[in-house]
Amino acid sequence: MTSKQRVLTGITTTGTPHLGNYVGAIKPAIAASRHEDAESFYFLADYHALVKCEEPERVQRSTLEIAATWLALGLDTSRSVFYRQSDIPEIPELTWLLTCVTAKGLMNRAHAYKAAVDANIKAEEDPDFSINMGLYSYPVLMAADILMFNAHRVPVGKDQVQHLEMARDIAQRFNHRYGEHFVLPEAEVDEHVATLPGTDGRKMSKSYDNTIPLWLPEKKLRKAIMKIKTNSQEPGEPKDPDSAAVYAVYSAFATAAQRESMRQAFADGIAWGEVKQQLFELINRELEGPRERYAALINDPARVERELLAGAERARALSRPLIEQLREAVGIRCLA
Ligand code: TRP
Repeated sequence: MTSKQRVLTGITTTGTPHLGNYVGAIKPAIAASRHEDAESFYFLADYHALVKCEEPERVQRSTLEIAATWLALGLDTSRSVFYRQSDIPEIPELTWLLTCVTAKGLMNRAHAYKAAVDANIKAEEDPDFSINMGLYSYPVLMAADILMFNAHRVPVGKDQVQHLEMARDIAQRFNHRYGEHFVLPEAEVDEHVATLPGTDGRKMSKSYDNTIPLWLPEKKLRKAIMKIKTNSQEPGEPKDPDSAAVYAVYSAFATAAQRESMRQAFADGIAWGEVKQQLFELINRELEGPRERYAALINDPARVERELLAGAERARALSRPLIEQLREAVGIRCLA
């Protein structure tokens, strides 16, 4: 067990899962968790959610929705450790131990923080306007998430690579000062995973307001797909799949054979409405079963809660002994 590679990733609980999250993160993670050669840890980063979301109802709802999503899509919680960050009190404790070895200058260089400062300067505000310490210290909390479980590999989007470099830097400083306690984690950015375009053709993202929620009921899903932007080419005109958002979405769900015949249909002048109908059917077939399981879970939050608490117990079997060891290492010790 311990010789296995550990893979860990966190999902911030601020939003409702959409097709882009599904294709880009959730589906590959669940597939990876089935591989025998790795031990996987997935968690709901609700402490991180507080940095950018001050709506308690939304944090709670998002936590439920994301947990139900992963379970409905078949995450096997006997093979992977699935938990909520805030159920692991050792994480905030480790955050403090790490904070005390983290150079302030390192945090000054964090992209998210720097972007907020730049926006303030541009708006002729005080540079620190509306920046809380949560945003500033975000990378330390994230380092604690990762180092707590000595993860080797951390699948993340490109925007998180700097945070992984910071986690390594922090781990190295701690190891240097107090002995070799931490594995140095590596970011794993999957270049093959498609970034899905949204309804306007740009990358599907909450910040562009162009998302298609994952769990729309059938009719609404169809309607949302029909709204994906196309050009004004008529039925019968040959079309270029590689510049069409609908084709990009299609190919993220299709088999190689399905992609091939759709490309042929484009060359033969398939109507946009027909492409969208086929896209709807393809996605709907994949999501039909999980959608029912999702509905059952959402209507039974106590069951989701039990799953998360069971996951937390398994996680804490690892975090408790490590925090004991770390306390000892830094000199927080029993005096007797
Ligand atoms: N910061 C990550 C994001 O916004 C979420 C996250 C929090 C995370 N803690 C983590 C990801 C630890 C990987 C490992 O996507």
